[in-house]
Amino acid sequence: MLSLALFTAALVAPALAAPAPAPQGITLSNSATQAPITMCGTAQNIVLTDTPWIVYNMFYNQRQTRGSMCTAYSSVSKPSNGNKLIKWAAVTDIDYVQSTNNVPKGYTFVGLTQNLETRLSAISSIPASYDWTRTNSTAYKGNIAFDFMTSDTKGDSTSGAAQELMLWLEYTGGQLPIGWVEGPTATIPSLFGTSWKLYQGVNLDTGILVSSLLPDKMFTGSFKGDLKEWLNALVKVGVFKSSTFVNVGNAGTEPFYGKAVVNATLGLQINL
Ligand SMILES: *[C@@H]1O[C@H](CO)[C@@H](O)[C@H](O)[C@H]1NC(C)=O
Ligand SMILES: *[C@@H]1O[C@H](CO)[C@@H](O)[C@H](O)[C@H]1NC(C)=O
Repeated sequence: MLSLALFTAALVAPALAAPAPAPQGITLSNSATQAPITMCGTAQNIVLTDTPWIVYNMFYNQRQTRGSMCTAYSSVSKPSNGNKLIKWAAVTDIDYVQSTNNVPKGYTFVGLTQNLETRLSAISSIPASYDWTRTNSTAYKGNIAFDFMTSDTKGDSTSGAAQELMLWLEYTGGQLPIGWVEGPTATIPSLFGTSWKLYQGVNLDTGILVSSLLPDKMFTGSFKGDLKEWLNALVKVGVFKSSTFVNVGNAGTEPFYGKAVVNATLGLQINL
């Protein structure tokens, strides 16, 4: 099932994107016939029906932005010995404005549309690979992250009982997670080849608890791992139970300001 209950993660909370009228709304397509497309609208996206993905330009703070944020879909490939991969890019040209430098302007991402709304305990694996390069020609603030949502209620990603989980791979320009001021609530000594610190706090606009895992050593353009290990690590430190539902999952980048292109190749799927 396609979950449209997509969300955003933010230091300053966004409004949830309402479905917008065409041509910004959901567009169904087949990756075999879909030409590369650049989407710059506030909620412009494309569902690639023969893949596990939606590609989304969620420009939720466009009104606070001087500049543009676009998401470019390029192609889908299927290596003979592996899972499908999607090539896409986040293209941002956002002026630095003092009063909004701490406001994420949007989220450009690839989200899952398949095998969601499943209990974590019923998921066999979440194989993921995220390879990226970021080329910025001005000072840039933003991160590279996975972002999932869970709840003890199937399908819930908006109530106060839902939880948002972020796995930050890399961040620059001074971006900090919700809960930074209070300090880490847990440490995870060994996961995906590094140690991590967990920061937690409620996003005051959505009322949703955000649990962000930040690596002690940032990834430098390449990540590979089974994201079920991340979610299991959160179970182990008591964030939720393994009976919780995984309702949303995606990977992307949240720009605050700067002129940059993030070119990425992503593999991400839920195997039941
Ligand atoms: C890219 O962004 C980083 C972080 O803001 C900054 O330190 C660096 O100078 C930027 N590169 C250029 C060419 O402006
Ligand atoms: C990076 O993305 C931009 C925007 O889609 C594209 O023009 C460029 O060719 C990409 N570069 C690479 C190396 O894929």
